[in-house]
Amino acid sequence: MTDQKRPAHCAAPAGAPAGKTAAESAVIMTHQVLPHDANPAGNVHGGVILKHIDTAAGVVAMRHVRGWAVTASIDRMDFLKPVFVGELVVIKASLNMVGRTSMEIGVRVEAENLLTGEVRHTNSAYLTFVALDDHGCPRQAPPLIIEGETGQRRLQEALRRRELRRQAMSEERGGE
Ligand SMILES: CC(C)(COP(=O)(O)OP(=O)(O)OC[C@H]1O[C@@H](n2cnc3c(N)ncnc32)[C@H](O)[C@@H]1OP(=O)(O)O)[C@@H](O)C(=O)NCCC(=O)NCCS
Repeated sequence: MTDQKRPAHCAAPAGAPAGKTAAESAVIMTHQVLPHDANPAGNVHGGVILKHIDTAAGVVAMRHVRGWAVTASIDRMDFLKPVFVGELVVIKASLNMVGRTSMEIGVRVEAENLLTGEVRHTNSAYLTFVALDDHGCPRQAPPLIIEGETGQRRLQEALRRRELRRQAMSEERGGE
């Protein structure tokens, strides 16, 4: 938020908080699919998976900032394989990149057949969360300490996605 457009009740951002690693906020959440999560054929609804993805990413964001954070965007999501009633949905979420107030969180979803142990990769998703202060104003997030080649690769890919998102948003607003 620029100083010109900041509402009067939103204080100017405070100094930079201390950096944190992605490992400090990463989560693995599980959910067993029950009949009410699925269609009559036993396939879990896409919206149910999306809710778990949003929840897991929100936990990562709140852990990183130790404060409020809201979903600003969810990138395109493809359902690669079906998930069935009785299976375990395993949601792995961690930070890829932290901007000033925004954070990109990568989520990998797997389905585990509890009887056979078979694990299938069913979805990947990228979400942007924005850290908020107690007045609901965007606030500075702790910087992300990048660790290892994986952290560096995820950062570079996230920066490319952020650029594409910004271009798409600018085109939607008529290039303003
Ligand atoms: C997300 C929200 C706080 C952003 O507010 P805003 O006034 O646009 O804030 P700013 O322009 O200062 O942008 C703040 C940051 O968000 C990023 N951002 C804003 N909209 C975005 C979007 N649609 N996708 C990705 N990032 C976005 C900006 O790039 C900026 O990042 P940076 O600080 O790291 O550089 C506001 O749009 C909002 O409250 N949306 C509703 C959120 C919600 O209800 N979510 C669902 C329930 S959790």
